[in-house]
Amino acid sequence: MSELARTIPAERYTSPSWLAQELTSVFGVAWLLAAHVSELEGAGAFLTLDIAGESILIARGGDGALRAFYNVCQHRGASLCAEPRGRAASFRCPYHHWEYAADGCLLRAPGAGAAALTDEGRPISLRPVFCAERFGFVWISMAEAPPDLDAHLAPIAADLARHRPEEYRLVNETVVELEANWKASVDVNNEAYHLPTLHPELRDVVDVRGAEFVLRGDHSTISLPIGQPAREVAPDERVSEALRGLLSRLGVEGFPRDGRAADVRPAIARAFRERAAREGLDLSARSDDELARKEQIHVFPNVQMNFLPFSLELYRHRPHPTDPSRSLFDELTFERRPAGAAKAPQRRRFRQGEQDLGPVMGADVDILHRLQAGMRSRGFRALRLTEGELAIAHMHGVLLRWLSRGETT
Ligand code: FES
Ligand SMILES: [Fe+2]
Repeated sequence: MSELARTIPAERYTSPSWLAQELTSVFGVAWLLAAHVSELEGAGAFLTLDIAGESILIARGGDGALRAFYNVCQHRGASLCAEPRGRAASFRCPYHHWEYAADGCLLRAPGAGAAALTDEGRPISLRPVFCAERFGFVWISMAEAPPDLDAHLAPIAADLARHRPEEYRLVNETVVELEANWKASVDVNNEAYHLPTLHPELRDVVDVRGAEFVLRGDHSTISLPIGQPAREVAPDERVSEALRGLLSRLGVEGFPRDGRAADVRPAIARAFRERAAREGLDLSARSDDELARKEQIHVFPNVQMNFLPFSLELYRHRPHPTDPSRSLFDELTFERRPAGAAKAPQRRRFRQGEQDLGPVMGADVDILHRLQAGMRSRGFRALRLTEGELAIAHMHGVLLRWLSRGETT
């Protein structure tokens, strides 16, 4: 960690001008995860995403191609599509009914005459945003000349490919309006140091001593053994209530009530292999130890994907357009695509504290409020990062590099 800064000025979490720079030089340039392909299946599927002060419209055209646009009518600038998602062959502005095709082209401008459909001879179109599909996700970049997406993802491409996220589908979306900076929300998930203290209920089921952190390009990964306590286990120790709860959540059946704690991880791996065989998933290249681990991939700047062999929990952190003390936290739950018809995802959105997020996520979100209050205090100048917070230091180092690049252009 020697070359990484161990202190981060608190001002970076509270300064409106710092946020403005992040929006311009990072969010206005980087490839951002906008959606999962399962949300945009079939011609006419569309969704809108508010991110970094912009509304982006993503639509699949009749030709099957996905395209993204600023969600702004080119007549007088009204925001165009107010629906969060749906299916449409065209988009009509509510103001004067200018109507755009799914490929962005202006189809008609009622009462305006044919000349209104062109601008210096060129057809009028919604202003495009770069859009690409990789690993089952739809990525957008608002840059005039975006960075190379494949080069950006290359350091984590093998990790992403191993988990085959394209085979998942979204089942649950929770959006929490946070009273905290987006980076505080990223940070809380980029370390395992707080697990034994903030989440004592995880002590018996997650072994933080075996956490492995790897820095990968602009990104990082954390791998955490599950199914064993964060302490030595005696050979004859019986399975705890907490471990039994984990087995049940993971769908591991038939584990004896008085089974040995040491047999839990092999049982998890075995159950995953049996399910993989039933569902035609090849896990043969992965060891039992790998299968009984939660693997998190932090995709710079604002996404973390938490994989188990049959589940994906994706966190996305969206900065507020102007207020550094606010952000949106998206918790997106995916399941491996079952054979039958897909159900529509459950969705909810609420302000921090208004609804229950469960003990673990609830504790993380509560602490963010306290962090943000502390960051604003005259009694706090800078975060002091420890060895266990290497991924946080790395992320902030990468962020600084992106910001300084923005200053030179
Ligand atoms: S602003 Fe959209 S049609 Fe006039
Ligand atoms: Fe946590």
